[in-house]
Parts: sequence; C-alpha cells; structure tokens
Amino acid sequence: MWMRMCRLRCGRLCRRRGWGKVVGLCVAGFIFGLMALVSFGYYFRHQLFDTFVKCTDKDSRRFIDDFCGLYKQGVITGSLCRPLCETGEVKFDRCTNFHAGKEVHLMNCTNFCRPQQTIPAVLKSSKINATMVLKDHPNVDMGDDITTMLKHQIRQLVVSDLGFLPFDTSDAIRVMWDEGFDQYLSDPVQKNAAYRTIMMLMDQPEYKMVKSLKHSNVVPRIYGTCGPMFLEESCPSGPLDVQLSYFSRTKPFPTSSSSSAQWREKASVAIGLLELLDHFERDFPQPLHLCDVKGSNFGMCVDGVVKMIDMDSVFFNTTMYNIFNLSTCKTHDDCNFFDCRGWCDVATGKCYSIRTNNNLQLVCDDVLTGPLPAVFDAGGLLSAAPASVAKELHAALDECIVQTGVEKGVPVYKPPPAIQRKIIRLLQHSIAHLDSS
Ligand SMILES: Nc1ncnc2c1ncn2[C@@H]1O[C@H](COP(=O)(O)OP(=O)(O)O)[C@@H](O)[C@H]1O
Ligand SMILES: [Mg+2]
Repeated sequence: MWMRMCRLRCGRLCRRRGWGKVVGLCVAGFIFGLMALVSFGYYFRHQLFDTFVKCTDKDSRRFIDDFCGLYKQGVITGSLCRPLCETGEVKFDRCTNFHAGKEVHLMNCTNFCRPQQTIPAVLKSSKINATMVLKDHPNVDMGDDITTMLKHQIRQLVVSDLGFLPFDTSDAIRVMWDEGFDQYLSDPVQKNAAYRTIMMLMDQPEYKMVKSLKHSNVVPRIYGTCGPMFLEESCPSGPLDVQLSYFSRTKPFPTSSSSSAQWREKASVAIGLLELLDHFERDFPQPLHLCDVKGSNFGMCVDGVVKMIDMDSVFFNTTMYNIFNLSTCKTHDDCNFFDCRGWCDVATGKCYSIRTNNNLQLVCDDVLTGPLPAVFDAGGLLSAAPASVAKELHAALDECIVQTGVEKGVPVYKPPPAIQRKIIRLLQHSIAHLDSS
C-alpha cells in the first residue's frame, strides 16, 4: 500500500534517486503532513472553543450585573448581595468554565468571607436569564403558613435529587438557607425576594448537595448567596488539574520548582484525595457515587483538605439506582451514566440496579494515572514517581485499575479498600524517603 502510494506520487523521482531514499522522503512527508493537519485541527478547535464554548469575562460580568440589577429592584436578596452589588467587597476576577449549564467565576472577597482579609472565593450559579426571573418565579401570596409550606417544598426538592432527606423537615429552611428567613418574613417587600431566592437556589442540584453535606469536610463551604448565585470557598485543583487538560484556565501547576518538592506536593494531594473517598463511602446514611471523576473536579482548600468542587454528578445510592432503573438498553454501555458504569439485563432490555465500577477505580484510572498508556508514565497526578517507590506504585495503580472479577457474567472494576491503603502507604513512604535524603 505504502509502496504503491509512493510509486504513484513520485514515480519519476523514485527512478532517479533509488527506492530507499524516496520511501524515506515519502514517509517523512506523510508524517509532516499529518502533523500539520493535527496542529491545524488543534488550533481550529482552540479558536472554536474560545469563541463558542469557553466563558468570557465580559459575559460573566454582565451576568453578575444583571442579577445585581434585580437585587436593587428588590426582586432577589441574600447576604451576598450587598458585598457583591453595593460595597464592592466581593469582586469579580475571571471566569473559569464553559458556556454550558453553569457559571463559575473566580472572585476576590474582602471581609465578607473572612474578617479583615482579602481571600479568593468562587461564585457559582446555574445559567439563568435575568429577564425571565419574575416570569419563572412570580410573587406568591404569602399566607401565615408560608414557613410550613416552604419546609415541605424544600423537603420535596431535596428528596427528588438526593433520594432521601438527610435532615429533619423542621430544619429544612435553616439547613438550605441559613440567612434568616424568619427576619425576611416580617418585611413585606423582602419576603417575596427571600422566597424567590431560596427557590432559585433549590433548582440547583449542586447547591442542594453542598448544603446537605455542609457539616462534613468533603465539600467547600458556602459563604453566602444572592438570588441564584452562591459564593463558595476556593479550593484550587493545583496539581490535580493535569496539564493535558487543555481547556483549563486555572493552571497553577507546577507550584513548586524542584522535582522532589513537586512530588511531595502531588503525593500529599493524592493522599488527601484517597482519604476523601473514604468519607464519601462512610460518612453519610448512604455511600455517594462520583460519576464525573477528573482532576479538575477536586481541589485543595486553604486548610490543606482535599474536597470535591464539582458536585453536579454525585449521587447517593437511591438516586444512582433510580438513574440506572430509568434507562433502557441493548448493551452494558447503554447503562453507563457518565463515569458510573451500569449493567444491562439484555433479556428485559432494562438497566439493572448495579454499578460495575467504583469510585476508587475511577480515581486511579482518571486522576492518579494519565490518559496515555502506562509506558509513557505521563499526565497523571502520580506520574514521574521517585525511584524509591516507582515500581511498587505502578504495580499498585495497575491493580487498582484492572478488572477485579465478574458479577452476573459482567466484568467488574471494583478494587478493594486494601489497594487504596497500599497506595496511601507507598505515598507516605515516598515522602518520608525524600525527607530523610
Ligand atoms: N470551589 C472552587 N475552588 C476553586 N476553583 C473552583 C471551585 N469550583 C470550581 N472551580 C474551578 O472552576 C472550574 C469549573 O467548575 P465546575 O464546578 O467543575 O464546573 P463545570 O460543571 O463547568 O465543570 C473547575 O474546574 C475549577 O477550575
Ligand atoms: Mg467540573
């Protein structure tokens, strides 16, 4: 095939120069052409994403301004509105994500997040058109029983997303919006704005999940809200946001210059991440399934704790199995929900309530090791491990990723906690070895 192409394209040249050289030239030309094509495609995609997909600071500022306008008209409220819209204590820095379902902006927060200090914080909101707010959330007639009604509404909205209520109904408003609903009720102008604000926040699964888990240490803290916007603790992804992730606008890695300092940093983040998985497994009434596992969805907060910063695709058992149960299928892949792999009962054409991989396998596969074949040892959080542990660590990571068995005739990928402990031990050992040398 190659010879034929070469003969057709450079017949005369072939005769004059001899086959060996010409084939070499053809191969080089082909490789060069391919590289040019790939670079062009990459550049073109870059442009396309910049234009249509990536957020822009201008649009993001307009989004915030539009909602500040609604605050000034008394349509929305919340503790964040004043520092964001009036005093300028919470200031926009830059946007981070795509034009997809939600707004995520980096902010600088003075006094409001921590007294007497300016610290980074992250503003999030679902994408809502400010001009539609009054249409979608009109004023309601606030009878005496508005508190009871709101508690029941919150209850329903939480159960529909989380599958159950992880707190008492009587506590519902306080857990979801600890900004003093009772005080707003006594103010005839503010009470509708407060009710509307809570409802707009309750439309966002991530907000509900973060608020429901707020007493644990697995999600960033929420400082305050203004309409649909909530301001949360900044937990940058740092070394978790692998360089190969081209689209990221937050790439602080490497933050350390020497390779041993870099490894120490990466190993500590990996230990934090593996410990976080334990909390997801054990700390709540049901285990949580992480269905969108990539480095940029985790971050390390100022207290050094690794937390999950994108909770859009995290589900308790009940919801996970409801999601599987709703799907029809022909193959097992039809039952996958993002990274959470499902199981197809081919006889009935329905997805079964079973997940065939686990959180640990996903973290090993998608974060700790890179997207390239193991031989390249590149791109993953734990690439370029020091020689003291490299061999054993690679073996443990391989063990964490491969098929672990078969359930109902289907291959499963569920590494046991013993592997997690082994990786943590190796990482601790590698840090201790660096400290002693
Ligand atoms: N709490 C946070 N602290 C620091 N950075 C964050 C935080 N939340 C989000 N980010 C940054 O914004 C990006 C997009 O946020 P994310 O919630 O993952 O939205 P998306 O659904 O668009 O992936 C993240 O990859 C991260 O870089
Ligand atoms: Mg994300």
